[in-house]
Amino acid sequence: MPRIKGINMKYLIGADIGTSGTKTVLFTSDGAPIASKTIEYPLYQPQNGWAEQDPDDWWRAVAEGLKFVVGKSGCNPKDIAGIGLSGQMHGLVMLDKSGAVLCKSIIWCDQRTSKQCAELDSLVGRERMISITCSPPMTGFTASKILWVRENEPETYDKCAHILLPKDYIRYKLTGEFATEVSDASGMQLMDIGERRWSKELLSILEIDEGMLAQIYESPDITGEVSREAARVTGLCAGTPVVGGAGDNAAAAVGTGVVAAGSAFTTIGSSAVIYAVSDVLKVDKKGRVHSLCASVPGKWTVMSCTQGAGVSLKWLRDNCCAEETAKAAKLNTDSYYLMDKLAESVPVGSGKLLFLPYLMGERSPHPDPDCRGVFFGLSASHTRANLIRAVLEGVAFSQRECLDVFRGMGVPVNDMTLTGGGGKSALWRQMLSDLYGCPVKVLESDEGAALGAALLAAVGTGVYKNLDEACSAAVKKKKAAVPSKERSAEYEPYFKLYKKLYRSLFDDFKALSTI
Ligand code: XUL
Repeated sequence: MPRIKGINMKYLIGADIGTSGTKTVLFTSDGAPIASKTIEYPLYQPQNGWAEQDPDDWWRAVAEGLKFVVGKSGCNPKDIAGIGLSGQMHGLVMLDKSGAVLCKSIIWCDQRTSKQCAELDSLVGRERMISITCSPPMTGFTASKILWVRENEPETYDKCAHILLPKDYIRYKLTGEFATEVSDASGMQLMDIGERRWSKELLSILEIDEGMLAQIYESPDITGEVSREAARVTGLCAGTPVVGGAGDNAAAAVGTGVVAAGSAFTTIGSSAVIYAVSDVLKVDKKGRVHSLCASVPGKWTVMSCTQGAGVSLKWLRDNCCAEETAKAAKLNTDSYYLMDKLAESVPVGSGKLLFLPYLMGERSPHPDPDCRGVFFGLSASHTRANLIRAVLEGVAFSQRECLDVFRGMGVPVNDMTLTGGGGKSALWRQMLSDLYGCPVKVLESDEGAALGAALLAAVGTGVYKNLDEACSAAVKKKKAAVPSKERSAEYEPYFKLYKKLYRSLFDDFKALSTI
């Protein structure tokens, strides 16, 4: 690659359509961010357990973000080699035949579809579902959401001509193409994961017309070009290639350099995910973790998802930590940093206080929409500091419980990187390292999924030969925490009890959900 700025310099754009907002970043081809813009939008929760967003909020955020980064960078839009899209997975976007959005998107953390999951169980059979889609019917995934709309809003379903995922709706707005790619499509539960294509068997049992679904590509493939109309609103050049991109976790994997078997990352954002790459498809027969197509052509991934990770800490901050929030504003620092400092004053085990992070129900390793958050062991001696540490530890225990499933499946994890907002907490990094029993690295510049999407565009447009080469050029890591044997041992009895609590409360969670 030419390295002299201004002479044939190629730029890449990654846009990550997240849950709290969209982050759009313009990078040089070696991964240096030149201009970045994050635009937030609302999450609608019309009922307990429901979660919806407006696809046109996403589009406005992407269009504005693109316009901003192109303008701010001062680059010639002709030098933008390509665009990669990343996005929250599983959300259901329904369009009519003119391409207009029919209803709000039911997004990944929505839990309304227990009944439809039971239907999927009986229509397809749980084992068959796992053998085709590599997961049992999931409330968070797209198939059950499609059935929900068909049953509850038949007039909407009747008008539906196109079913898309969140980032693929943005692709449609940018290019006019109805396309998706393997990593995100894997989370719709309509795909044969081993074959990397829609499952004709499932579509026929569920009576879903394949014509409504997008064409599936590999993640670095070019799926279309920026249209004239999109060029007008974004400042891009018409004809700029848009590659497949990836679901947010599969994009973050590329942005974290996790593209080969043995490497893995944990990301703590609203949800927490552990994602490991595998050369062969490995499936957990109990459905505790997901197996999906990786964004690396020809590879697969095993992934766990804790629904309420960052969400738990944010909930605690917003409801119990007004003092830290006010102090942070005064000191011009981050409220989470002050919460971390408080938590550091409490020993391992949070003074015998445990937290189960099930505020949004749970996915891994307990696919259960009915469980809810628990503080266990509250005592009058506890303070906010104990609550904060218990939440951090609860999320870390949940990650360890998931990693144990990976290890049990024989998925090698020799190299762990921590990313996402949670990666900024030194205390959380240390906890994870102590609980995983391995070093935890962080990225020198954590652009995560946006960088991954941009690197997929770099490979798709020929800037790099493959993802290995792209990641070696653009992703730099440093070691951030090494495990301490003593602390690992101290955590063990709490971790054991943490695991037992879910089993002990199983029936009570169900009882609570039916009151
Ligand atoms: C993964 C998942 C979440 C969303 C939100 O299965 O549901 O990570 O993609 O970002």
